[in-house]
Amino acid sequence: MSPRPPARLRCQYLNDPLGVDTGSPRLSWAVESLVRGDRPKGFHVLVSSAEELLRSDIGDFWDTGMIEADGAPALEYRGEPLSSCARYFWKVRWWDREGRVSPWSKPASFVTGFLNPGDWKPKWIAARRVTEFRSKGTVLLGHAGPQDTQACAVYFRQEFACKDRAALAMIFISGLGHYELRLNGEKVGTSVLDPGWTDYGKKALYASHDVTGLLRDKNAVGIILGNGRHTRSYGYDAPRLTCRIEIESENGEREVVFSDESWRTSDGPLQENGLYFGERYDARILIDGWDQPGFDDRTWDKAALCAGYPLASQMMPPVRVTATLATRSVRRLPSGAAIYDFGQNFSGWTRLKVEGPMGTEVRLRHSELLNEDGTLNLGPNENAEATDIYILRGGGPEVHEPRFTYHGFRYVEMTGYPGEPGPDALDGRFVHSDVEPSGELCTSNELINAIHGNILWGQLSNLMSIPTDCPQRDERHGWLGDAHLSAEEAVFNFSMAAFYAKFLDDIRLAQKDDGSLPDVVPPYLPRLYPADPAWSSAYATIVELLWDHYGDRRIVDAHYGSLKRYIEYLGRNADQGIIRALGKYGDWCPPGGIVPKKTPVDLTSTWYYCHDVLILARLATALGRAEEARQYARLAESIKAAFNGTFLGETQYAAIRVSPVDTYPNQTSNALPLYLDMVPADRKDKVVASLLQSVVRQQDYHVDTGILGTRYILDVLTEAGEAEAAYRMATQTSYPGWGYMLAEDSTTLWERWEKLTGCAMNSQNHIMLGSIDGWFYRVLAGLSPLLPGWKTVRVRPHVLGDLTFVEARLDTVAGRVDASWRLTDDGFSLEVLIPVGATGEVHVPLLWPGSKVLESGKLLWRAGHAVDPVPEIDLAGDDRKRVVFKVGSGSYMFELKK
Ligand code: BGC
Repeated sequence: MSPRPPARLRCQYLNDPLGVDTGSPRLSWAVESLVRGDRPKGFHVLVSSAEELLRSDIGDFWDTGMIEADGAPALEYRGEPLSSCARYFWKVRWWDREGRVSPWSKPASFVTGFLNPGDWKPKWIAARRVTEFRSKGTVLLGHAGPQDTQACAVYFRQEFACKDRAALAMIFISGLGHYELRLNGEKVGTSVLDPGWTDYGKKALYASHDVTGLLRDKNAVGIILGNGRHTRSYGYDAPRLTCRIEIESENGEREVVFSDESWRTSDGPLQENGLYFGERYDARILIDGWDQPGFDDRTWDKAALCAGYPLASQMMPPVRVTATLATRSVRRLPSGAAIYDFGQNFSGWTRLKVEGPMGTEVRLRHSELLNEDGTLNLGPNENAEATDIYILRGGGPEVHEPRFTYHGFRYVEMTGYPGEPGPDALDGRFVHSDVEPSGELCTSNELINAIHGNILWGQLSNLMSIPTDCPQRDERHGWLGDAHLSAEEAVFNFSMAAFYAKFLDDIRLAQKDDGSLPDVVPPYLPRLYPADPAWSSAYATIVELLWDHYGDRRIVDAHYGSLKRYIEYLGRNADQGIIRALGKYGDWCPPGGIVPKKTPVDLTSTWYYCHDVLILARLATALGRAEEARQYARLAESIKAAFNGTFLGETQYAAIRVSPVDTYPNQTSNALPLYLDMVPADRKDKVVASLLQSVVRQQDYHVDTGILGTRYILDVLTEAGEAEAAYRMATQTSYPGWGYMLAEDSTTLWERWEKLTGCAMNSQNHIMLGSIDGWFYRVLAGLSPLLPGWKTVRVRPHVLGDLTFVEARLDTVAGRVDASWRLTDDGFSLEVLIPVGATGEVHVPLLWPGSKVLESGKLLWRAGHAVDPVPEIDLAGDDRKRVVFKVGSGSYMFELKK
């Protein structure tokens, strides 16, 4: 029987992407096999300029022939040079271990963008005059500041003819802050809040839209341009755009339409629009047919040419509306306002359905919380007005949703609705970067499932072309601390390579000449240089994560040099190995406050210095730079010595002083050095004991950590053989803990451990404490990549507390990985799936004395000895706690029998 054809074909990690702007894109796919120990002998990739050629198995651009497989099912394109703005079709087949060839995969395609930066020669245009409005809530750093002046949305239009049938018609566009592209009266594509946020002076993103099927003889392109972050308070002038329409006819001729001063502009119904502010849309001003051919635009202004920015393609999943939430309940207040509850905190907006007299003004305010009396609690929004206003046109049903704003909310207050507002008058629209799900996790413990669920909502709410801190107040910035603390959980749950590749490039571009990085990327808050090292650790941490989870050397190559410069910068700011000058936030938001009073900021700064140097040593090894790897390893040793010399006492690190004579052990200070194995061997037991004293005796199995300590403490306890203590902390239902948040009706994770409802730093939807989800995958399900790109999968589950089963599934770059275990009547079972070409290291926990291990019914191990040899399974070792097997690819069913 021939093997199954490859599936999940991806180009640059994306499904049939548009706008590929590298000449050697990464092509990848997944193969599956029922045969154990199967390995691909080879792959064969065809890349063609036409679908018919590919159908006839002709790869006129690339025909690799059967090439030997080496590791991941992926290849970098090395065929004929690709052209800009062209579509390519490709497919792949593979040979299994026995040399049997699979059928070809289904075809996939990609469209190139501009492969040489000079290929576009864009003209940027703006409105000659912009009407302005003043909004509250676009102030910097979330502190009340001056009101911001922003432009009312500008409507642009241009007509163009299309003489012959188009073989490929593409619109490439960058419209800053955000644009909506329309063609012949329809919105093009499904992306919203395009393009993604960047530091525009360094790089603006263009999006690529395929409009081949939408062209007629006469066409009109219409663009609505909103503010986004392209406003004065961020140092930018009025919104602007560049657009290029590229049509290749079936007879091979090319026609290009550029944005230029012949395009027309006008105001329109979308009057006010601000990211934090909301929108004001006056449907009475609706300009019928403005985005259709034949519209009389003589009264419109001509566009003005203006300065623009360097461009790069937006090669990541766009922001989209991914779900529609029905109203859970509507309540009328004595004031007449209606309060809508969507039952879930999320990022996005609402869709309004309304019918009533012209000029009726419906006002929607958004918030995460209600006051006791049922009114909206606007506290967590701080300076974000988060108000959308719709003014009816009248004369029939009207449906409207905003474009250039978003809110973080669960509740909406509606006023001014004509008639009785029913549940159907509003739908919730969930808006975020539409990353592909790649992981699933389910356990027998409903609390853990609920925490996991809250983390998924919180993570997606905080992916808005950059990883944000929160979606509701006037911040929503790429705070690097929040970004790296949630990154591991994100790569387990979603396919993040393209998203983070873009974000790492944002970080690289934000680096100053002296090597320093900011706390926030893109650096929209310019005062935030240099970063707290615990925040800028995002750079090294995310590069390493991508290396482990995607095994893509290009990413390491692209950032290694900048990471070195960053480490040199830290080195210049270290005082005999200790970083005293750079720390600001440290172990942020511990129980009881925002600022860490228990853990010294110098300790966390220096620890992250060591942490990042160790990462660099690993990356140097990955790149074959052995001498540099040794050099960084030596540097790490010297930081370690300085760290221990400064912060280590007889039995513990940096104890908490509670009175002139009393001290308490500190969870974060002890956990961090244990995590990096920095503790001298003769003091390790004491430090662990000190940590446990805090966890067990002082805090009764509760966290006493801020966001940094929280990321590592459960791992440290697990490695120290105290996984049960970690489990108790993870599943606490009293304060402080994740379960406490759930007990208090949260549907996402909070910024603080406390339940706070005032106007302060108390976001109900922060993701930084979501780091626990990585522990669920790695420790409860037991899954981690032992070799980069999941070439070797480790399955080391922990049977803890009241758990009776855990199931996890991942779509990795190596292929599908499964691990599910359950307690059975007579023992324990563990089902494992290892991808074709990969190997596994399976740890079967020895839960009962005298138990034996079987695999698919065959006795494998008993009392310290391998019994029947089973092909593709090798005994790798055992101790009193577990038996370890090395396995080839395929599915396995291990059982432990009492
Ligand atoms: C953000 C945090 C961020 C912090 C830095 C806050 O305002 O919301 O999540 O990391 O500032 O101190």
